[in-house]
Amino acid sequence: MKALVVKPHSPNSIELRDVTKPVPSERQVLLETLCVGIDGTDREINEGKYGESPEGSDFLVLGHEALTRISAVGDDVKGFSSGDLVVPTVRRPCWENCLNCRRGEVSMCLTGNYYEHGIYKLHGFASEYALSDSNFLVKIPDELKDMAVLLEPLSVAEKAVSQVFKIQQRMIWEPKRALVLGAGPLGLLAAMLLRLRGLDVYSLATQPKDSLKADIVNYVGGTYVNTTETPLRTLSVKFDLIVEATGNVGVAIESLPLLGVNGVLCFLGVYREKEACQDFGKVLTGMVLGNRLMFGSVNSDKVHFEAGIHDLFEIQRRYGNVVERLITEKLTVNDFRRAFLPGETTIKTVVCFK
Ligand code: BGC
Ligand code: ZN
Repeated sequence: MKALVVKPHSPNSIELRDVTKPVPSERQVLLETLCVGIDGTDREINEGKYGESPEGSDFLVLGHEALTRISAVGDDVKGFSSGDLVVPTVRRPCWENCLNCRRGEVSMCLTGNYYEHGIYKLHGFASEYALSDSNFLVKIPDELKDMAVLLEPLSVAEKAVSQVFKIQQRMIWEPKRALVLGAGPLGLLAAMLLRLRGLDVYSLATQPKDSLKADIVNYVGGTYVNTTETPLRTLSVKFDLIVEATGNVGVAIESLPLLGVNGVLCFLGVYREKEACQDFGKVLTGMVLGNRLMFGSVNSDKVHFEAGIHDLFEIQRRYGNVVERLITEKLTVNDFRRAFLPGETTIKTVVCFK
């Protein structure tokens, strides 16, 4: 069968290769991949900066944002049957004495020895057929099938937003205004979730005001700010909540003075280590004097995928098919290379296997 594979740590190794079709064990399901979304993590893996092959393999099948159909189920699998439309979650437990993994909170794994499909020590879903443990599948209602490939990035936004609200129970907190830095899929989906929670949302990105990104933000009732015209530091309002989804250290640090008293900033990017802020003492004093809080969030659990399904229905009810507009490019598998080219105006590129 055809699979998109890379050799981790060797730059630009991605290729379409013929690999053996996998066979499910008793607790696994065989998935027929319909399509996979490509994101920054996939590009970083192909750049050789991230990712590990499964033990005993010298390649890694990519793909962690997938929409699939069940093709066969192992003998011990309950609750799923052939033909079901499902999205698999990404991370699998570390199987050590890990409090979080053992209770299904795998995104909070304590040991760091977790597995991630298509990223870290487990093959992904960018192949005609793939395997998953049946405990990590989320059924997709037919009405959502055209946008369900975005459920994985949406689940990452769901986790971040739910963490924010849990953490802020440290006080009486009624947030009014949120700032989302970056308008890629993650930023746009986070902006939509915050709109559902009734916040006044500002989305910042570099695209012009007549771009698709700007249009999507305005369409869901947010305010789009083009930072080329209006630099971050010139904004005169303060925010109760900031979601950093650009992965750019400069942008992240420049946004700190915009965090209001009792505010919270959630980092979702992977940042270049060497860039530091000269005024870090000032940043820390600001954190203290305003009870401000910064935290990071990675990955997502099955509950966040389920919350995502609920919110996809809610977004559809309020704003129609706006989520589908994030899918700006659908490629056939033979054209996969285009998904790895830098594209400023694209939002989400999807590679289709069916
Ligand atoms: C995925 C997460 C994953 C993270 C780090 C992201 O692209 O969406 O599920 O945990 O990369 O590997
Ligand atoms: Zn663990």
